[in-house]
Amino acid sequence: MARTWLITGCSSGFGKVLAHAVAARGDNLVATARGTDDLGGLAERHPGTVRLAALDVTKEGSAAAAVAVAVARDAFGGLDVLVNNAGVEMHNKLTADLTPDDWETVFAVDVKGVFLCMKHEIAAMRKTGGGAIVNNSSMNGLVAIPHATEYTAAKHAVNGATRGAASEARETGVRVNAVLPGLIETPMIDRLQDEPGFKDHYASALERHSVGRFGKPEDVGYAVRWLLSDEASFVNGAMIAVDGGYTAR
Ligand SMILES: NC(=O)c1ccc[n+]([C@@H]2O[C@H](COP(=O)([O-])OP(=O)(O)OC[C@H]3O[C@@H](n4cnc5c(N)ncnc54)[C@H](O)[C@@H]3O)[C@@H](O)[C@H]2O)c1
Repeated sequence: MARTWLITGCSSGFGKVLAHAVAARGDNLVATARGTDDLGGLAERHPGTVRLAALDVTKEGSAAAAVAVAVARDAFGGLDVLVNNAGVEMHNKLTADLTPDDWETVFAVDVKGVFLCMKHEIAAMRKTGGGAIVNNSSMNGLVAIPHATEYTAAKHAVNGATRGAASEARETGVRVNAVLPGLIETPMIDRLQDEPGFKDHYASALERHSVGRFGKPEDVGYAVRWLLSDEASFVNGAMIAVDGGYTAR
């Protein structure tokens, strides 16, 4: 039976690649982005199995409304698997130069956004017998790089939120895990690679990915699909590094 997915941040990068892959496999999908115009014709290409929903993860009403699109009886009537992927990058500044606004901007999307989505996703899944969630954290949830203190702190917080929600699985029926990607070739990295604060890290990072390459969105997608599958039914609260060996060194 087709499962129903909801993925946040489907307009770009990892979320976009995963959304197209899920839709192509014929699963039900609620593809979300801040603006549904950014979703690249997904619904037209997959009529019946793809619904679009506007979702700004920093707004609780928006998270609740996107979940409601999936559970509506005239849509899919429930949710099985969720990927909280939407995120923003660091400001490439020394800690001493970061402003409170810089800090709050990253925490609003990367941490509060994950919380708000999990809150409404878990509430909906509880009613229909449970499900599974993967949060998109980062290798910066385990290790730091310079000029990314707010992002590193945010991704450590995502890991904590993942473990907290996972610890409630007995009551909710929802498994919650995180993927911790290394450097993945997406528009986020395109934006960052020439930034003065990020340039030195980018230049040396390839050597630390011991498989000898940066990642592709598909590399993360394989791990996500497995974590959300029945094969991973005994995996809960895990932080799965998908980083080409970066954090193993
Ligand atoms: N690319 C990497 O190397 C890398 C490494 C580790 C973790 N990640 C994480 O992967 C996730 C996806 O990043 P990406 O590399 O695909 O970047 P990206 O910039 O290509 O995509 C980020 C997505 O998040 C969306 N987004 C941003 N703010 C939002 C908001 N308020 N509400 C809803 N959506 C919002 C964007 O519109 C976009 O669709 C992020 O959480 C990022 O931190 C990326």
